[in-house]
Amino acid sequence: MNDVTIARIAQHEGQTVTLKGWLYNMRSSKKLHFLQLRDGTGIIQAVVSLADVGQALFELAGSLTQETSLTLTGKVVADPRSHIGFEMQISDIAILGRSVDYPISPKAHGDAFLMDHRHLWLRSKRQQTIMRIRHTLVRAIRDYFDDRDYVLIDSPILTPNACEGTSTLFSTKYFDDQAFLSQSGQLYQEAGATAFRKTYCFGPTFRAEKSKTRRHLTEFWMVEPEVAFMDLEGDMDLAEDFLCYVVARALEKHEKELVEILERDVEPLRRVQKPFPRISYDKAIEEIKAIQLETVDKELRDLLEISWGMDFGSPHETELTKRHDRPIIVHGFPSQIKAFYMKREDHNPLVSRSMDVLAPEGYGEVIGGGQREDNLEVLEAAIAEHKLPRDAFEWFLDLRRYGTVTHAGFGMGLERCVAWVCGLHHVRETIPFARTMDRLRP
Ligand code: 4AD
Ligand code: MG
Repeated sequence: MNDVTIARIAQHEGQTVTLKGWLYNMRSSKKLHFLQLRDGTGIIQAVVSLADVGQALFELAGSLTQETSLTLTGKVVADPRSHIGFEMQISDIAILGRSVDYPISPKAHGDAFLMDHRHLWLRSKRQQTIMRIRHTLVRAIRDYFDDRDYVLIDSPILTPNACEGTSTLFSTKYFDDQAFLSQSGQLYQEAGATAFRKTYCFGPTFRAEKSKTRRHLTEFWMVEPEVAFMDLEGDMDLAEDFLCYVVARALEKHEKELVEILERDVEPLRRVQKPFPRISYDKAIEEIKAIQLETVDKELRDLLEISWGMDFGSPHETELTKRHDRPIIVHGFPSQIKAFYMKREDHNPLVSRSMDVLAPEGYGEVIGGGQREDNLEVLEAAIAEHKLPRDAFEWFLDLRRYGTVTHAGFGMGLERCVAWVCGLHHVRETIPFARTMDRLRP
């Protein structure tokens, strides 16, 4: 198959070609129709002139409706006014499939309506841009680890145990047993790191989060590197270097679309440069308290209430990150609010060797990770303390029984990263078909 596509139309300047696609939009005058043809790779303006095509074809063009599938034959001509540099002068049109009363018109629609029609909404210019940026980020993420000797070790999705706490587990019958959809591939990456030193996984993860915030999906994609002989400091260095790399790749490839289609100010993305400020949890609590004191809005002031031992909520992260012009790393969270596998500080077990990377402009947590508990007895105690079923973790304890080493890693939620890079308010637009508490369709 060697179809001509709009993305590669420059190769056909001066030639008469046939394009296959859908009608995106049209405007007309008495003797001219200007069709916007969308072929999945781009949009091109196709000019139908009454003088060139005759009455019958001109009328056919005029009767075309939004999202009708068709072939257009015509000459490719350079046009400096065009956003792609070319337009077509049409000599023939053939309809493939009609589209009657396409539900998404160019006028504004509500979020719920658009999400209900997600299978069609994906055809819009804005959604096309977001999905392409997501794709670029996926490639950048893979390239980053592939180019640095990491081995891809896919973690299973059906698992016998919890990773991130038992309250957000989706469970499913597994023959005569029970299984859970993976909340994180981390535990298996720890086995990977002791076998291959540096590994990563990148796949869908699931959280039955009873949370309707703009940052929560029940199914999301997470990339998780894990490295043997790396401690918390090394983990923070890795997260920082990695994030700079992926954001730079997205900016390099998509700056024009970010500005023109998503209307995103790209200056904050340019500032995603090392070093990121590293702030201890204790210091972050002080900063949040100071912000709270200065906050005039009573409702926000109440939301910012915090004391040592509490986890950050969205408002805390949002206000804290607004104070910084680049991502920040908060480290040393209380052990009590972190997962059972987090390494505790030798001098103070109340504090864990954990870290979160918070994106600026109010986006908040995009990365969570830290150093893992490598001491068998401490880990056994943590499993008991979290009331986790010991038998499901025996294999995990083996990693401490047979040649335990310092190791660390993190997870980055792809959708949070896409939302931030694209400047989107809500993660629902960052994934082709979002799954949230109240949405399983389409
Ligand atoms: O902070 P979390 O829960 O960390 C872990 O799962 C670790 N086991 C990862 C690791 O160390 N290998 O999740 C990691 C990231 C978050 O920072 C966030 O970006 C994303 O996953 N995330 C979500 N994204 C969308 N919807 C949700 N419900 C998310 N929960 C977490
Ligand atoms: Mg987290």
